Amino acid sequence: MTDAPIRFLLNDTEIVLTEAGPGDTLLDFLRLGRGLTGTKEGCAEGDCGACTVVAGRLHGGALVYEPVNACIRFLAACHGCHIVTVEHLKGPDGGLHPVQRAMVEHHASQCGFCTPGFVMALYGLWMENPAPDVVQVETALQGNLCRCTGYEPIVRAALAAGRAGGQMQDALAVERAAVTAKLAAIPPGADVFRNVGRGAGPDGETPFHNMERAVVPADTDQFAAVLAANPQATIVAGATDVGLWVTKMMRPISPAIFVGHLMKEIEETPDAIRIGAGITYSEFAPVIAAHFPGVEDYVLRIGGWQIRNAGTIGGNIANGSPIGEMPPLLIALGARIVLRHGETRREIALEDFFIDYGKQDRAPGEFLETIVIPKTGGAILAAYKLSKRASADISAVAAGFRVEVRDDRIVTARVAFGGMAGVSKRARHAENALIGQPFAAETFEAAARAVAQDFNPLSDFRASLAYRHAVAANFFRRFWLEQAGLEAPVRLNRAVGD
Ligand SMILES: Cc1cc2nc3c(=O)[nH]c(=O)nc-3n(C[C@H](O)[C@H](O)[C@H](O)COP(=O)(O)OP(=O)(O)OC[C@H]3O[C@@H](n4cnc5c(N)ncnc54)[C@H](O)[C@@H]3O)c2cc1C
Ligand code: FES
Ligand code: FES
Repeated sequence: MTDAPIRFLLNDTEIVLTEAGPGDTLLDFLRLGRGLTGTKEGCAEGDCGACTVVAGRLHGGALVYEPVNACIRFLAACHGCHIVTVEHLKGPDGGLHPVQRAMVEHHASQCGFCTPGFVMALYGLWMENPAPDVVQVETALQGNLCRCTGYEPIVRAALAAGRAGGQMQDALAVERAAVTAKLAAIPPGADVFRNVGRGAGPDGETPFHNMERAVVPADTDQFAAVLAANPQATIVAGATDVGLWVTKMMRPISPAIFVGHLMKEIEETPDAIRIGAGITYSEFAPVIAAHFPGVEDYVLRIGGWQIRNAGTIGGNIANGSPIGEMPPLLIALGARIVLRHGETRREIALEDFFIDYGKQDRAPGEFLETIVIPKTGGAILAAYKLSKRASADISAVAAGFRVEVRDDRIVTARVAFGGMAGVSKRARHAENALIGQPFAAETFEAAARAVAQDFNPLSDFRASLAYRHAVAANFFRRFWLEQAGLEAPVRLNRAVGD
């Protein structure tokens, strides 16, 4: 598949790139390559939202638009997409778009640096939900920071923009069929090189070209084959981790294989829900709501909307971070994962994937393809995250609970923690303190004491050892208070609103 260019639509222009480096970001391309400076660079790490653009992609033939961060979106990941920047927005009369007009009328901008990013996030909301409430607006804006205006006028503008209507006359609605046809005509897959300089070859004399390579496989089978042939390649899914390796650490990632558009299957079997590793947090949220009641809010505490639209469940597992927030929940749910090398697959329990800090059970050339989550069968579920900020902040401690109760007695308990060890891990002593015991305050108090034996966490800038221990114990008390219908002192998983 060599020499297949990267193709995408940028506003109303078709882009064809025969040469690109795997670490080239969309933001640099927009600002430096195309002079589209409405998209700003604030943090270059997905935190501030100043670089927000809207990305459209075909999902099963339907065109879906979502706000994403251009600073950590690589150009190769734009293959087959429609990228819409703030320059493309206009109202029906050619003047300001209803979202922009509402921002002006509600005094929602001062220095203006953050404004295009807010406008694009709100444009994404305006298209998706014409009548949002305050909580929905705040959820949409979790990934946007403003240092001078303050958020109240921006929220008022968002509510007013929704009321202004006009969605059916908007350019993206009017052009939907034409854009869909253009995206469908883009060949799946791309494979491009960039010459990054000449040097002397191994003999010290013969000149050679140092090439970087970016591959966008057409499908998962092609991904498996390319990775098996290039086991040293960097897998890039949503790039919410890998993006920062490039923008913050200047790490070379070539050759890189871009897979954010793959492994999107969601399948229900009699016993389990199987999700592809490429399912994003935003795509996972409705699955959680439908099948795993009690933990819906937990997913909305991850990153901001733009991060949830890009970051994948597979990436959150594969990065092996001890503070990744999906593993504690998924381990508590008893999830298993399917690892694939070429045409060979093996299935293991997720908890066995994490061997030690920075070490996972994944061979070179192997990738994570599917996550298999058993149905809950009436078990009580809960998941908690404690972080310094409610939104756009990773946890100091996170935990998932799955507890089955019969005749007021606990019959099974799976409780897993993140942030308490070098890997996400089950709290076996605490589980044993629960199993077989009455479903009562004393039992959870015993588990709160027992969890101290399970972990010996680090002290770092997020939390001290003592604080982490106190939080872990309090999660058991919280679980009991919530289940007993008693008020826990602070509601943990409400990212926005009350
Ligand atoms: C602003 C911001 C806020 C964040 N907030 C949170 C948060 O609240 N909670 C949280 O847990 N995380 C958070 N993160 C981290 C990040 O969103 C997650 O770790 C994310 O799920 C990674 O997925 P990705 O698709 O972006 O992975 P990538 O960055 O593309 O890849 C991550 C790693 O996984 C590997 N990989 C990806 N897919 C596969 C696969 N299928 N098979 C094998 N290897 C693979 C890559 O090679 C890489 O090593 C945040 C990140 C940012 C930038
Ligand atoms: S520049 Fe801050 S999120 Fe992209
Ligand atoms: S208006 Fe200045 S940062 Fe938001």
